[in-house]
Amino acid sequence: MALRKTFCCLWTLGLCLVVGKSSLVPSITDPYFIDKCVSAHNEWRGKVSPPAANMKYMSWDSGLAKMAKAWANNCKFQHNSCLTKSYACHEDFEYVGENIWLSDKEALTPELAVASWYNETEFYDFDSLSCSKDCGHYTQVVWATSDKIGCAAAICPNLGDISTTIFVCNYGPAGNFANMAPYKKGASCSLCSKGEKCVQKLCRTPKLIIPNKNPLMKPMGKAPQRIPFNLFSLSFILLRIF
Ligand SMILES: *[C@@H]1O[C@H](CO)[C@@H](O)[C@H](O)[C@H]1NC(C)=O
Repeated sequence: MALRKTFCCLWTLGLCLVVGKSSLVPSITDPYFIDKCVSAHNEWRGKVSPPAANMKYMSWDSGLAKMAKAWANNCKFQHNSCLTKSYACHEDFEYVGENIWLSDKEALTPELAVASWYNETEFYDFDSLSCSKDCGHYTQVVWATSDKIGCAAAICPNLGDISTTIFVCNYGPAGNFANMAPYKKGASCSLCSKGEKCVQKLCRTPKLIIPNKNPLMKPMGKAPQRIPFNLFSLSFILLRIF
């Protein structure tokens, strides 16, 4: 009897850990997560030095986010194999770019990941297009024509410890073409296309109003809203057991 009770407790504890764990990784439909990913990129894109004449404002693409999520869930610290094949990753983009970040001691935040990618700017020389160490993450973050982004996170114990998190961003169209500058140097927004607006020193296409195709599939909202849901499902499961 006592043994059975202990067993139940352990089982419940394990369930709590599993339920708690899943809420650590933001969903790719979470508006808060989407906003963090997009704004971290746009903030750095607006700050490039030398200034950029044709840097596009980035916005979210749910197809790229699904691709990032599927790859993140694989828990491999390497690039997606579809990247090298034409139209193999996404039907709208012949090639897609990708940055991957692995969190170690520090908790995952999109801001931290994007800041660490941008930090490779110190190894990059714009005028000679040369790189003294690693620059590929930086040049993808500031690639002028990559204006669609989708990012996702997953917990990957196999890549470190129980809280190691992988963060993947995919970019469309891809950047990082050899011997090409990531953007055109010049006064901010001086080479925006007709119809684009200058927002945060970036060329932004005016927002199209797209009708919500599936009004029942509303995103769940920010993290705190998940707690009642988890407690509810947990108590439901416990009720079924006892
Ligand atoms: C980026 O570089 C700056 C200056 O070297 C440093 O203070 C900062 O911590 C770095 N940020 C990240 C996220 O690596």
